[in-house]
Amino acid sequence: MSTRALLALATAASSVRAAVHIWPNPHLDTLEFLRFDTINMGNSIPTFASESRTTNDADGKNRNNAADWIRTAYHDMATYNIEDGTGGLDASIQFEMDRDENPGDGFSNTITFFQSLYATDDDVAQYVSLADLIALGLVSALEMNDGPSLPFRGGRIDATEANAPGVPNPTQSVEEHTASFARQGFNATEMIELIACGHSFGGVQNAAFPLVVDKVDGSAQGNVPFDSTPLHFDNNIATEFLDGTTQNPLVVSKNVSALSDARIFASDGNVTISA
Ligand code: HEM
Repeated sequence: MSTRALLALATAASSVRAAVHIWPNPHLDTLEFLRFDTINMGNSIPTFASESRTTNDADGKNRNNAADWIRTAYHDMATYNIEDGTGGLDASIQFEMDRDENPGDGFSNTITFFQSLYATDDDVAQYVSLADLIALGLVSALEMNDGPSLPFRGGRIDATEANAPGVPNPTQSVEEHTASFARQGFNATEMIELIACGHSFGGVQNAAFPLVVDKVDGSAQGNVPFDSTPLHFDNNIATEFLDGTTQNPLVVSKNVSALSDARIFASDGNVTISA
């Protein structure tokens, strides 16, 4: 049983209204509740665990919350500049959604869901920043869909304005991508690893990239998946690339200028993508 549930039980049993949280502190307590209470336990708030497993085909075929949350976390942090410490995972994405580098409705889907938690739970509204919710969304999306368990630490402070632009786009060259990821704090090997992990989920929408993919089942919102298992964290993004069966639009699209995954995965002679 969670700390929150125990506290609620203790309060009800003694008929004493607790004025403040006592242990460990309200911020950590609320983050723990969001991360670990995989069953709603009588709370009205939807859990990260259940929502991160949700496919939202109402938004278009092959769409899922996990992919939207992971892409949102990456686009939020991709503004990070390791030289001057600006940007990073600070929820500035909420001020950057109309930029050309952030096409598609995945960001608004994500931010709308996370902000809805503020309306349904007073503790979340009071103690947890949007940046922490975005980071927790990434961790939950991976953990709940066969990915690794990542260490999570709270305490991010929300930006109050947009950061400098900095999200990569698929028509850039490998050299531009390498420089972009270096500015974000990643070397060339980490760039390949990070993209392969991210693109284990979801795919490309016609609405966002009409020159890269056609509509799926007549809907511009549907995804053409990056691999055969777009709802699961696994190696298929890499194995299908290597065995030539991949349907990843950023590898096989007729728009050859947008084949960024093909260029990046092969940029070290397939050493990293084969590892
Ligand atoms: C050179 C770097 C990258 C490029 C050019 C790139 C490009 C793209 C494009 C064009 C899409 C389709 C978006 C849409 O149609 O809505 C996409 C989707 C996605 N990207 Fe990336 N990406 C890059 C790096 C990353 C990284 C590092 C991550 C995470 C670690 C990531 C995670 C995702 C996810 C999860 C989706 C699927 C979104 C969905 O299905 O709703 N990407 N990416």
